[in-house]
Amino acid sequence: MVSVLLLAALPFAAALPHSYSASIFYFPDAAEVGFAGPTPTGAEPEAIQTAPAAPVKSDTYPLVADGAAYSPSFNPMRYWGNLSPWFSVGGAFGLPEASPQVPSGCELTQAHIVQRHGARYPTSGTNKFAALLQNAVVNRPDSPPRVPSLGAEILTPFGRKQLYDLYGHLLSGFTQLPVFRTTSEWRMVQSARNWAAGFFGLEEYPTSYYEEIIIEEDGYNNTLVPWNDCANANGDLYEMGSWYANNWTEIYLKGAVERLQQYVDGVELTTTYVSEMQDLCAYETVSIGYSKFCDLFTEEEWKGYQYANDLDFWYADGPGTLPLLARLTQTPMTLFDTTTNGTLDGNNITFPLNQPIYMDATHDTNIASIAVAMNFTSMVASGPLPVDHIPLDLSYNTQHIAPFAAHLVGQVMTCPVTDSPSGSEKYIRWLLNDGAVPLTGIKYCEEPNKDGLCLLGNFIKGMQERVAEVDFQYDCFGDVSVPYPDNLTNGRYIR
Ligand SMILES: *[C@@H]1O[C@H](CO)[C@@H](O)[C@H](O)[C@H]1NC(C)=O
Ligand SMILES: *[C@@H]1O[C@H](CO)[C@@H](O)[C@H](O)[C@H]1NC(C)=O
Ligand SMILES: *[C@@H]1O[C@H](CO)[C@@H](O)[C@H](O)[C@H]1NC(C)=O
Ligand SMILES: *[C@@H]1O[C@H](CO)[C@@H](O)[C@H](O)[C@H]1NC(C)=O
Ligand SMILES: *[C@@H]1O[C@H](CO)[C@@H](O)[C@H](O)[C@H]1NC(C)=O
Ligand SMILES: *[C@@H]1O[C@H](CO)[C@@H](O)[C@H](O)[C@H]1NC(C)=O
Repeated sequence: MVSVLLLAALPFAAALPHSYSASIFYFPDAAEVGFAGPTPTGAEPEAIQTAPAAPVKSDTYPLVADGAAYSPSFNPMRYWGNLSPWFSVGGAFGLPEASPQVPSGCELTQAHIVQRHGARYPTSGTNKFAALLQNAVVNRPDSPPRVPSLGAEILTPFGRKQLYDLYGHLLSGFTQLPVFRTTSEWRMVQSARNWAAGFFGLEEYPTSYYEEIIIEEDGYNNTLVPWNDCANANGDLYEMGSWYANNWTEIYLKGAVERLQQYVDGVELTTTYVSEMQDLCAYETVSIGYSKFCDLFTEEEWKGYQYANDLDFWYADGPGTLPLLARLTQTPMTLFDTTTNGTLDGNNITFPLNQPIYMDATHDTNIASIAVAMNFTSMVASGPLPVDHIPLDLSYNTQHIAPFAAHLVGQVMTCPVTDSPSGSEKYIRWLLNDGAVPLTGIKYCEEPNKDGLCLLGNFIKGMQERVAEVDFQYDCFGDVSVPYPDNLTNGRYIR
């Protein structure tokens, strides 16, 4: 019977009680029951092109993070850096007039999607405070923080839901099954599948595309996890991120340590533990919807928390964009001397070049690295981040760049142009979390454009020059000392 197959396909089958297979006799599936009524499928959604106004995501439903002491307009979730749930960032990167919708008259022909997983539990072993709390006596009468029982690493239920909401169409352009790529880490695979389930529909997704799982482990080449094949991305240079963040944490949480210590006996609080309490607020909220750790902190302390995250991301980055050029120019890659894997990226089965949609599931840190590789200069406009204060004009905000379920989308489109012989030209632009990114840092695209568009040919030329000037072997394996922060703005060492 169908039911046996069905059972095997259920991801949670292992957790079901043994009586499930016996009882399933009583619960025939839809095909057996019949009477499905009319089932016409409509056209694929393409709201990004047809809706009168672009869909934007501004709330965090069903998550709650309130605090009696906050002003009504203050939402702590907007200060959680890479632990923030994603929201449409509008003009955050400097193009307030650009809508995520394709400009009127243009036709979307291709989408390049880089997708971060949705909300997750803490990475293993990182939150020492949570473990310590078991030995502490908490004597705050109104809101005793509980010992949190969060899982580790994998996607929380809210994270899975987030990925359903993203836009997708262009399916009619496929002549063969799409290849969508993910790293092998379980939360990546899960996210990629949830994304596909939302995209193709629950029934169809398992057979609607090829899932390419690329090994994520030290020593393996993987453009979605470039640091595994880049020694210098893991040494002192990478540590700079946490040094700077920790130094800043000492400053912004000094007062909080004193204030919170009075409620806790048995553990001597430090700024590190207190910043881990802030992490717990974020993790608990995205996991169970609410956290009692949140309202322990003031608005200023949340701004400080965000900034620690910004420092960490700013000072721990690296390059890697060759696959994009291959896809845009439909030219197979032949040289595999960076983070590419010749076995996978060197043939048109596992690395096809003719897809209307590309989907790569990756990490927050890789999205931040891509921003460097593509020289998204509006994000670095406020200059290298100072370690001792938050700049007033801060342009590098991690919650805009790499929140949970962050997505960078390259939209390729054909737009009418009166003085072109064919009457139209191909353009590309990049949206990060629905905000158009000005391409001012890419040669031949510098001319400002309110929609963030650049002629596709110019973009390709500019990126080819950018790639040519990056010396991957030296940057990753060369003997480089930790540079001054001023020399890191474009992701390379100035020798
Ligand atoms: C390249 O990918 C193949 C297939 O996953 C794998 O067997 C091989 O170890 C990878 N090589 C490197 C250097 O990552
Ligand atoms: C930050 O802290 C590290 C040690 O954790 C120290 O070596 C370094 O000098 C500090 N850097 C700044 C800029 O304060
Ligand atoms: C993996 O990367 C290294 C260093 O960049 C390169 O020498 C090697 O050929 C690559 N391996 C594959 C299978 O592409
Ligand atoms: C894939 O590559 C093979 C051999 O390199 C070639 O014969 C075939 O036409 C290619 N297929 C596509 C769809 O490009
Ligand atoms: C990045 O953009 C800045 C500002 O537009 C520019 O000065 C710089 O040359 C660009 N860097 C590269 C490597 O293209
Ligand atoms: C930083 O870059 C400047 C050139 O812009 C160079 O003169 C200086 O030596 C560099 N400093 C370090 C520590 O690399």
